[in-house]
Amino acid sequence: MRVHKIAAIPADGIGTEVIAAGLEVLEVLSKRDGGFKLDVELLPWSSEYYLKHGHYIPEGGLEKLKTFDAIFFGAVGSQDVPDHVSLWGLRLPIAQGFDQYANVRPARVLPGVKSPLKNGEDIDWVIVRENSEGEYAGHGGRAHRGLPIETATETAIFTRAGVERIHRFAFELARSRPAKHLTLVTKSNAQRFGMVMWDEMFYEVAAEYPDVKTDRELVDAVTTRMVLKPKTLDVVVATNLHADILSDLAAALSGSLGIAPTANLNPERIFPSMFEPIHGSAFDITGKGIANPIATFWTAAMMLEHLGETSAARVLMQAVEHATASGVHTPDLGGEATTAQVTKAVSDYIKASQA
Ligand code: IPM
Ligand code: MG
Repeated sequence: MRVHKIAAIPADGIGTEVIAAGLEVLEVLSKRDGGFKLDVELLPWSSEYYLKHGHYIPEGGLEKLKTFDAIFFGAVGSQDVPDHVSLWGLRLPIAQGFDQYANVRPARVLPGVKSPLKNGEDIDWVIVRENSEGEYAGHGGRAHRGLPIETATETAIFTRAGVERIHRFAFELARSRPAKHLTLVTKSNAQRFGMVMWDEMFYEVAAEYPDVKTDRELVDAVTTRMVLKPKTLDVVVATNLHADILSDLAAALSGSLGIAPTANLNPERIFPSMFEPIHGSAFDITGKGIANPIATFWTAAMMLEHLGETSAARVLMQAVEHATASGVHTPDLGGEATTAQVTKAVSDYIKASQA
């Protein structure tokens, strides 16, 4: 029996609801498969925990987290804690501390889901987000607070090592897909240093991948291309902030933020990788039982794939596609289904697909 140690961190808002749904489905999958088990530990780190204890991650928490094979993460963000405090208190210490530099964000229109685009079925993208530096490097400061001369800086950091490794990761991913096409997203017309190095390193790495077609698009222009010519994109590599923005657009174009998954990968596997839906805490629907668990299921499939459970990952995606195709949709997709009903539809399909 293969045993995978999973740290589940539901954290805030609908994170607790979708992670519970995800764990339920994973349990059904592991029973069906019979070859693997997930040894899950729930970690209570959240904004509520922070307000009580003064920290998100307790002393020794990251050390403990290192002993897991993967992290299954809900959402962080609360109305009672400033967003930059919660983000830098929980998600970024894990993503940056565990060098999860490759953030992978697939987007496509699942069967039965309606894209706002008339040619939405052309969407089949993977956005590769640099996840360790760039605009999220945390370099900067504030001086002369409250005075008229108050100054704040926020410096994007681009290192040769950081840029090269994300481009290489993106080329490897592009090479593994049928279209073998990688688009470099940049803003090197306006930003002359980091972004110019970003471009140069892309073409240095490209020389090692003659089989991968490449093109280059400015970040503003790529938004129009996503909307007007979705078929012309396949894998996209972008900086931390650019890809953050583009991936929300990609999610909306594929039907809803409620279906979009992500993997924060440490490709060398020195540290555990982290898997999360990208939708965030969603206070407006927290506690109503209507959060869309599809993003979390898709995320769980990415986690299973990372853990080497490829057949379980495939069954899970089939179950997800069956559920979306049969119209079991939560309100974000225009339906009336609850989290529990979508979870049941996916679980039932997995059980029924038993060989
Ligand atoms: C994401 C989210 C986060 C980010 C937020 C919650 C800080 O938008 O994962 O895309 O910007 O990285
Ligand atoms: Mg985002």
